[in-house]
Amino acid sequence: MQSVDFWKNRRVLITGHNGFVGTWLTLVLQYIGAEVCGVSLDAEQGSLYDRVQANIRDKSYVLDIREKAEIQKVVNEFNPEVIFHLAAFGFIQECIANPETAFSTNTVGTYNVLDSVARCDSVKSIIVASSDKVYKNEGRQCLFSENDQLGGVDPYSASKTCEDIIAKSYYESYLKNGDVGMCIVRPSNILGGGDHHGNRLIPSIFQSFDNGEEPQIRNPQAVRPWQDILDMCDAYLFLAERTYNDKNCDIVNVGPELDGVCTVGEISAKVGWLFGQTIVNNGGNKNTLAEHMWLGLSIEKIKGLGWSPKMTIDDTLENVFQCYKCEQNGELFDICMSQIKEYYRE
Ligand SMILES: NC(=O)c1ccc[n+]([C@@H]2O[C@H](COP(=O)([O-])OP(=O)(O)OC[C@H]3O[C@@H](n4cnc5c(N)ncnc54)[C@H](O)[C@@H]3O)[C@@H](O)[C@H]2O)c1
Repeated sequence: MQSVDFWKNRRVLITGHNGFVGTWLTLVLQYIGAEVCGVSLDAEQGSLYDRVQANIRDKSYVLDIREKAEIQKVVNEFNPEVIFHLAAFGFIQECIANPETAFSTNTVGTYNVLDSVARCDSVKSIIVASSDKVYKNEGRQCLFSENDQLGGVDPYSASKTCEDIIAKSYYESYLKNGDVGMCIVRPSNILGGGDHHGNRLIPSIFQSFDNGEEPQIRNPQAVRPWQDILDMCDAYLFLAERTYNDKNCDIVNVGPELDGVCTVGEISAKVGWLFGQTIVNNGGNKNTLAEHMWLGLSIEKIKGLGWSPKMTIDDTLENVFQCYKCEQNGELFDICMSQIKEYYRE
C-alpha cells in the first residue's frame, strides 16, 4: 500500500480525469482519502467515468487544456499539491485522422498545463503521462530503457515524443531550482475493466461478441507489454510521492513483468477462453497502420527504486471480465472498488 498518511486529504489535480486511466486513478485516490479535482473534455457516453460518476466525490471541470486561461483559473482556485497530467488525444488511428488535434492537445496543451501549475506555489509534484511509443523503434526485439533514443513516428507517437521533450525542457528551464519535482512516466499498454474505446483490443473483442460477430484481430503477431490498470495507478502514486520528496526531474518506464510481454493473438486467445469461445487469429482487417511488430519495455529502473508490478496477465484479464459482465452502473462501481480493496489487501 502506498503511504496512506501521505495521500490522506492531499489535494490532487488530474487532467484527463474522466478518461480510462484518469477514472481508475480517481477511484484509487478516493479510496485512500485524497481530495481530487479533475479537468477534462466532456465524459464520453458509456465510458467508465460516465458509468460510475454518481459515486465519485471529485470536483470536476469540463475545459480544453489548449485554453490556458481556463486551466490556470482552476489551478489557482484549487491550489493542488500534486498534478497528474494524463489528458491527451490518445489513439493512433484517431491521431492519424486528426493530426492537428493530436499535435495541439499533446504539445500546446501540455505546455499550458505545466505553465499554469508552475505559477502556483502549492504544487510540489508533477507527473506527466508520456508513453512507451516515444522510443525510436527499429523493430529490434529489445526492451527499451529510459536512456534509449526517442523518435515516435506516427502522429500519436510523435506528439507524445514532443510532450515528453517539452516536459523535460520546461522543468530544466523554469522549475529546476524551485520547490517542485517532476516525473515523466512512460507506460506500456494498460488493461483494466470498463475501458470502452472500441479501437483498443479488448473493448473491440467485447463489442464483436455483443454484436454476435467474430472479432477481427488486427495484428495478431505484434508483441506488446500489457500491464494492469491497478499496477499503473499504484506506480503513479509511488512516483508522485517520491517526486514530492526528491524535487528532481526523473523519467521512468512502467510496465509488466516479462509474462505480460506477449502477442496480441495470445491476449485475444485468453479473452476468448474466458468467454468460452475460440478467437481465430486470422489477421482480421489488413494492418494498414504504421504499427510496430515488437515493443518491449524494461522496468528495471522502477524496480530499482522499490516498486514492482503485482498483477499477472491472468489476474488482469479476470478483473476485466468481471467488469464486463456487470450490467448495472452501481454494481460496476462496487466491482471496481472491490478490485481496488483486493489489490491493497495486505
Ligand atoms: N491507456 C493506455 O494504454 C496508455 C498507454 C500509455 C500511455 N497512455 C497515456 O496515458 C494518458 C491517459 O490515457 P487514457 O487511456 O486514460 O486516455 P483516454 O483517451 O481514455 O482519456 C483521455 C483524457 O484526456 C482528456 N482530454 C483529451 N483532450 C483534451 C483537451 N483538449 N482538453 C482537456 N482534456 C482533454 C479526455 O477528456 C479524457 O479525459 C494519456 O496521456 C495516454 O497517452 C495511455
